[in-house]
Amino acid sequence: MTHLPFAELHLHLEGTLEPELVMELARRNDVTLPYRDVEELRAAYAFRDLQSFLDLYYANMAVLRTRQDFADMTAAYLARAATAGVRHAEIMFDPQAHLVRGVPLEVVVEGIASVLATSEDDHGVSTLLIAAFLRDRPEDEALDVLDRLLARGAPIAGIGLDSAEVGNPPARFARLFARAREAGLHLVAHAGEEGPASYVTDALDVLGVERIDHGIRSLDDDALVARLVAEQVPMTVCPLSNVALRAVDTLADHPVVEMLERGLNVSVHSDDPAYFGGYLDDNLDALGSSLGLTREQRIRLAENSVRSSFLPADRREELL
Ligand code: ADE
Ligand code: ZN
Repeated sequence: MTHLPFAELHLHLEGTLEPELVMELARRNDVTLPYRDVEELRAAYAFRDLQSFLDLYYANMAVLRTRQDFADMTAAYLARAATAGVRHAEIMFDPQAHLVRGVPLEVVVEGIASVLATSEDDHGVSTLLIAAFLRDRPEDEALDVLDRLLARGAPIAGIGLDSAEVGNPPARFARLFARAREAGLHLVAHAGEEGPASYVTDALDVLGVERIDHGIRSLDDDALVARLVAEQVPMTVCPLSNVALRAVDTLADHPVVEMLERGLNVSVHSDDPAYFGGYLDDNLDALGSSLGLTREQRIRLAENSVRSSFLPADRREELL
């Protein structure tokens, strides 16, 4: 099947760690997990909410120890993304989640970057790297990690904000985002996934983000929707994720098509594909069967994804 060219703009690299790779890395690194095999691990992938997912997501990271581990995870993702029609990927990783486990920053960054460097040649997928900061940890820690990334010239194009949303509003990270902006980095943040519409407003007005990751709760606030339409703020929506984490009851109830029809600048992405039932193509196919996504709507989603990327104009044109 031929695919439309898509840009994957909402993807957590650690969320691409498939159960098979988790078990392989556990064996390689002699890490003991509370699962005997892939089936037992897979059986744990039933979530009540964002936090119940995050608990497993962080626990599984215990198997990532060496540069090679980070490189293998990155290579596996890119190979799969290419088959999904992804031609450009803006990939988030969570540096703090590895630092707190004692894995040095250079191991993480060099492992990932070594594979991204040849991704266009190897897979036909151009890439940018986004360092995502954990909103349930202190801002001072995030500032220190950002400074260390900048000091060592880490090849990051932007920063993001993720992890447990409710009770951790964007405004707590105003200094972090100001510093990243001064450093010339792009700015994105998760907002309105489980948290209220006001977090979306604050991500725009206090943090100055260029894209909202998720943003589905914006629909609770008509004035905010009108603003998002007027400003054409990119929103990276992840349908399989929203259903898996019970932010939306079923795919048939998912608001993404309504968002598109209301004139919002939405695109569809995979978030943590190893945990939520699939990659970009799986998300699109699921929307096709549950919401009757038309070919025309699919084309609009593809075009929105490319236009909402941080690619230079010439590469965008190539993909449009
Ligand atoms: N980290 C990884 N996936 C996430 C999600 N869906 N929401 C918030 N933080 C995350
Ligand atoms: Zn996410």
